Amino acid sequence: MIIAVDGPTASGKGTIARALAAHFGLPVLDTGLLYRAVGYQTQLNHGDPDDASDALVACDFPDSLLDDPALRYESTGSLASRVSVHPTVRKALLRRQVDFANQPGGAVLDGRDIGTVIAPHADAKLFVTASPEERARRRHTEILGRGVEVSFEAMLADIHARDARDTGRADAPLIRAADADLLDTGEMTIGEAVQRAITLVEART
Ligand code: C5P
Repeated sequence: MIIAVDGPTASGKGTIARALAAHFGLPVLDTGLLYRAVGYQTQLNHGDPDDASDALVACDFPDSLLDDPALRYESTGSLASRVSVHPTVRKALLRRQVDFANQPGGAVLDGRDIGTVIAPHADAKLFVTASPEERARRRHTEILGRGVEVSFEAMLADIHARDARDTGRADAPLIRAADADLLDTGEMTIGEAVQRAITLVEART
């Protein structure tokens, strides 16, 4: 069974993907982490994330980088969104994701283009979303909880910028697949969203 979970930043898709993986006993891949590793490696190389060849060189990052806490920083998310517009970068990361999706027994993947590009044949596809304000509020609370000072307005502006880049790029833009179930988590607790996700997947499989 392959489950594709796509959606914008801070929609809850990562938490939902991990909960689905635990529930159905499947391995899970957070594909955003791969783009974050490329963005961060570009910076370590003193490269320009907006330059396609600098970003392509960074696709050759060491596997150990995937465990680096710096990949979780907000600033790394922005770098990831900049390197992810380059088609050559997307192509370099494709095989790893497709192989993960097609492993025997199945898998859960979360990202932006799982249901459209990586696993268009997935058994269940969820498009997880919430309003930009709600997503900014969640991210803001999470960051303040880590003791980092950031304004809500700056958070909202970053969410809008990331959404615009992810939905506006030419190659594999963030878009709901025609056969994806919509899961708006705006009015839900995370527990309710997970329960709803399980119900939607069960109905498809
Ligand atoms: O999901 P996360 O916020 O970690 O992703 C970081 C960035 O990586 C996204 O803003 C998006 O630009 C890019 N990404 C992508 N395709 C994916 C996963 C992430 O373009 N499948």
